[in-house]
Amino acid sequence: MQHTDTLTIMAANAPRKILVTSALPYANGPLHLGHMLEQVQTDIWVRFQKSRGHDCLYVCADDAHGTAIMLAAEKLGITPEQHIDNMRQTHQSDSAGFLIDFANFHSTHSQENRQWSEEIYNRLKANGHIASREITQAFDPEKQLFLADRFIKGTCPRCKTADQYGDNCESCGATYSPAELIDPVSAISGATPIDRESTHFFFKLPEFESMLKKWLDSGTLQPQVANKLREWTDAGLQEWDISRDAPYFGFEIPGEPGKYFYVWLDAPIGYIASFENYCARTGHEFDAYWQPGGDTELYHFIGKDIINFHGLFWPAMLDSAGLRTPTAIYAHGFLTVNGTKMSKSRGTFINASTYLEHLDAEYLRYYFAAKLSDSIDDIDLNLEDFVQRVNSDVVGKVVNIASRCAGFLRKGFDNTLTEQCAEPELLAECIAAGDGIADLYEAREFNKAIREIIALADKANQYIDDRKPWVLAKEEGKESEVHQVCSVGINLFRVLMTYLKPVLPAMAEKAEAFLNTSLDWTALEQPLVGHTLAKFKPLITRIEPKQIEAMVAASTPDQAAEASPAPKAAKPESTAPATIEFDDFAKVDLRIALIVAAEHVEGADKLLRLQLSLGDEQRQVLAGIKSAYQPEDLIGKLTVMVANLAPRKMRFGVSEGMVLAAGPGGDEIYLLEPHAGATPGMQVK
Ligand code: 2FM
Ligand code: ZN
Repeated sequence: MQHTDTLTIMAANAPRKILVTSALPYANGPLHLGHMLEQVQTDIWVRFQKSRGHDCLYVCADDAHGTAIMLAAEKLGITPEQHIDNMRQTHQSDSAGFLIDFANFHSTHSQENRQWSEEIYNRLKANGHIASREITQAFDPEKQLFLADRFIKGTCPRCKTADQYGDNCESCGATYSPAELIDPVSAISGATPIDRESTHFFFKLPEFESMLKKWLDSGTLQPQVANKLREWTDAGLQEWDISRDAPYFGFEIPGEPGKYFYVWLDAPIGYIASFENYCARTGHEFDAYWQPGGDTELYHFIGKDIINFHGLFWPAMLDSAGLRTPTAIYAHGFLTVNGTKMSKSRGTFINASTYLEHLDAEYLRYYFAAKLSDSIDDIDLNLEDFVQRVNSDVVGKVVNIASRCAGFLRKGFDNTLTEQCAEPELLAECIAAGDGIADLYEAREFNKAIREIIALADKANQYIDDRKPWVLAKEEGKESEVHQVCSVGINLFRVLMTYLKPVLPAMAEKAEAFLNTSLDWTALEQPLVGHTLAKFKPLITRIEPKQIEAMVAASTPDQAAEASPAPKAAKPESTAPATIEFDDFAKVDLRIALIVAAEHVEGADKLLRLQLSLGDEQRQVLAGIKSAYQPEDLIGKLTVMVANLAPRKMRFGVSEGMVLAAGPGGDEIYLLEPHAGATPGMQVK
């Protein structure tokens, strides 16, 4: 393909300027492993580009607008702004836990995004690409709100199953319009919807038919994606409704009071806004990335469910607005767990934070890498295979190379490698494989890259097995051979860890400390000779099946609802919390609380219900501390609580905050208590 050849030639000469995004998660719920699949895929690709010396920036943001977010905030009794702020904090901490190296994580509810959304809309309008007309829609007379199809429920017109959503029946699979539902009701208030007219604004997509047909034929999209999108162009493109009526949480359309941009209009513009925010913070150049015809590259990583927004609406909008279109859109498939859709009842709908409470992020980064390709096929996380694969490949093969050599080098050779590499061919073979591995990373064929790397690890282990340093070490006069074999092993390990660094950045950092050098792809031609290592420390531990069991149990609603507000279990050593800015810390409102009442919660194994006084108000908190305290022992004690945690509805009631406790995890729990003199409501700083 012409296009790729051009990039390869440029790569050889000058660093490429690359901007990368992944889909903006909705600020209306926690991140789950499906989100992490995409962020990990993107992050590996970005880290790879950086390791090759390119200027590659990964920006993302929360997708913060829409009716669902507005209603969720209302239910929680907080403003949408508070709701999206809370979500943003959890999203950022989950991504950091998975070692996602964003240059910037912003929000679509930002000044930059408002300005760009208005600007782009104005350009579309000035170019005659905006239409307006009256449409009739279902309206909730009680809530005074227009109802999207998914907010209408009723009886399926085909199979007569009750309580089906407005556009399809979960029981028989029929699709229909909400008007066909029998006895429709608003899923928000229960009222019977009425028809109401209002003016809507449309983006004239049909005017981009020839531009989009060319775009679909340009090789920019994966073939399966282009084919799918051709179904849209072949069927005849429709105008796209880009407005919603008040009340709506979003940006009001300039000059159209009471009309708001539909969340999907301003969501992709959030890519521009996040990058602009990054540039303003850092002084990085901005314009070159969004003007057509420059030498910068723009890539969007997305799931296959949102290809129409990115592959049709977005390039047409960019074209109309005089902005560059993406260099490529990289879609991936869905994540399944144990062969089926993630399921709450089976405990396989796993939130990112739940995973991190039980397992090291790099296990999953590795497993995803071992399965990801450039296609949109679904990726299955088979939990048994996951344990087996990570333990066998990462621990049993890669780390094993270093651990079996390190001891001999420390004991017999002062941790210093030989002055010459004794097996130059084997090392040269590993280094020569680098270009092919780099091409596979570039092409997002991570599964093939991993296969190659592990095949090299097998060769390295075979070499050590053949030479048997543990036998040589016992033989008279074989010291220098032991030294040679182990020095070769360490050099092979260095090359393999360099190839794995985009996938396993934290482990690579530990390997760098041990090897006493940075793992630099461009420096591999120079073997480590006469070089002194640092002390070898375990780089990663095996996954224990009981960690998986605990994660699945914590993801199964009955068990999870009970356990969720328990003090956070101590994290495994290798997932040390990411550093945060002071401003992030300052958002947490820590207060001294007086425990005025405490009682068992009927039916709950782990929870106590606490009534906490903050001086001028009381809070109910469900705390997972039953294993450590008798309720009566707590009454009258002071402790520390997070007072601005969004209320959480749990199986046993609403929890309005969280008490702080220390402990190694499990049943050993120690509530924090201030020194004498502190009083309820006092802020903890
Ligand atoms: O599907 C989603 O989760 C959307 N929030 C993705 C938005 S991607 C981009 F367009 F902002
Ligand atoms: Zn039906």
